[in-house]
Parts: sequence; C-alpha cells; structure tokens
Amino acid sequence: MEIKSAEFVMSNSDVAKCPKSMLPEYAFIGRSNVGKSSLINMLTNRKSLAKTSGRPGKTQLINHFLINKNWHLVDLPGYGYARVSKSAKKTFQKFITQYFSLREQLVSAFVLVDIRHDAQPIDLEFMAWLGENSIPFSIIFTKADKLKPNAITRQVETYKNKLLETWEEMPNYFITSSSKSIGKEEVLDYIDSINNSMNI
Ligand code: GTP
Ligand code: MG
Repeated sequence: MEIKSAEFVMSNSDVAKCPKSMLPEYAFIGRSNVGKSSLINMLTNRKSLAKTSGRPGKTQLINHFLINKNWHLVDLPGYGYARVSKSAKKTFQKFITQYFSLREQLVSAFVLVDIRHDAQPIDLEFMAWLGENSIPFSIIFTKADKLKPNAITRQVETYKNKLLETWEEMPNYFITSSSKSIGKEEVLDYIDSINNSMNI
C-alpha cells in the first residue's frame, strides 16, 4: 500500500472522545520504549508524525492519525512502565483497557515486542486478555536491526514455542526495524488486505 497522506487527528485520554467516524482503525500497543511511535513514523514515511523518545513513557495519550483519508492508525501509551507513579500507571491501564474494550472501530491490534527479549509475562498476559475479549491482533517484533539474522530466527522460534504453550496456533507476526525500514511493506500490505476485504 502506498501512503499518500498521514495526518495527526487528535489526542485523548478518554475513549468516548475519540473520533466518531467509523473508519477502520489499527492500534499499536506494547511495553514502553518497544518502538510503537517509531514504527508509526516508519510505516507512514514521516520522521516525527508520532513523538518518540529514548526515555520510556513518551506517549501518554490515545493518538489518532488519519491515513490516506480512509483509515486510522492509533498510537497508545506503553504498558508496564515502572517509573511513572502508581496512580499514573492505573490511569494509563484504565484507558488502554477501555480503548480496547469499547472502541468499535478497532479492526485489529498490533502487539509490539522487542525481538531481543524473551517473552515477557506482561506481554503474554496482554495477549491472553485480547484473546479472551475476542480482539484480533498480530505480533510485531521490533528492533530487528539489533540482531543478526540467525539470532532473529532463534528468538522468533523461542517466542513461538512459548506462545504455543497456551495458544493453539501462533498469531500472525511481523519482523520489523524502524531504523532500517524492515517489514514495512508486509505490515502495510496486511492492513491493506483487511481494508480491501471491508471495501475500504
Ligand atoms: P512509549 O511512547 O514511551 O511507550 O515508547 P514507544 O513504544 O512509542 O517507543 P519509541 O518509538 O518512542 O522508541 C523508543 C526508543 O527505541 C527510541 O530511542 C527509538 O529510537 C528506539 N527505537 C524504536 N524503534 C527502533 C528500531 O527499530 N531499531 C532501533 N535500533 N531502535 C529503535
Ligand atoms: Mg510512544
């Protein structure tokens, strides 16, 4: 899919105030610092459409971006960031779960995990929660530029085996690097194929 336009729409902490339009949307979620905002910039060919930072906890709101005037990408705050206060963490957690439970326009989520790390309980729990709530998702392995090809294969295999302990099959997954633009076409073509199947 070619990205012809990408525009920031709005930021919210309340799912009820998110755009009312029924355009299909795709949300990026995962631990703080995993590379959600960077991935959105990579996918849209924009350097700073979504704000990124080396320090975790940068994205603190639900951010909607309108792509090609007919679908939304959503950048969310990370979960599991230890350095924000307990009350801030609870607030984030609440609006993230509200977003996923209430947002009818959500077509699919992308759960981002850093390819360098073994499966983390918080990610597995979040995926289980999505499954229990019948929310479709794919996994996006990020920062693939940090590993050599055989280490990438090894990490993905290990991750698969871990997931297959609880899941019947491995969810759809992508290997990406925002700094090296790896996986861009695959993710965009996947979104495009879903949009096409909905006549978008
Ligand atoms: P929060 O908004 O804090 O939840 O973080 P985030 O998941 O949006 O992460 P962000 O995109 O802000 O990136 C976090 C850090 O990881 C930044 O320093 C990025 O430059 C770096 N980073 C993101 N993606 C990649 C990647 O593909 N490769 C490498 N090497 N670094 C990356
Ligand atoms: Mg972010």
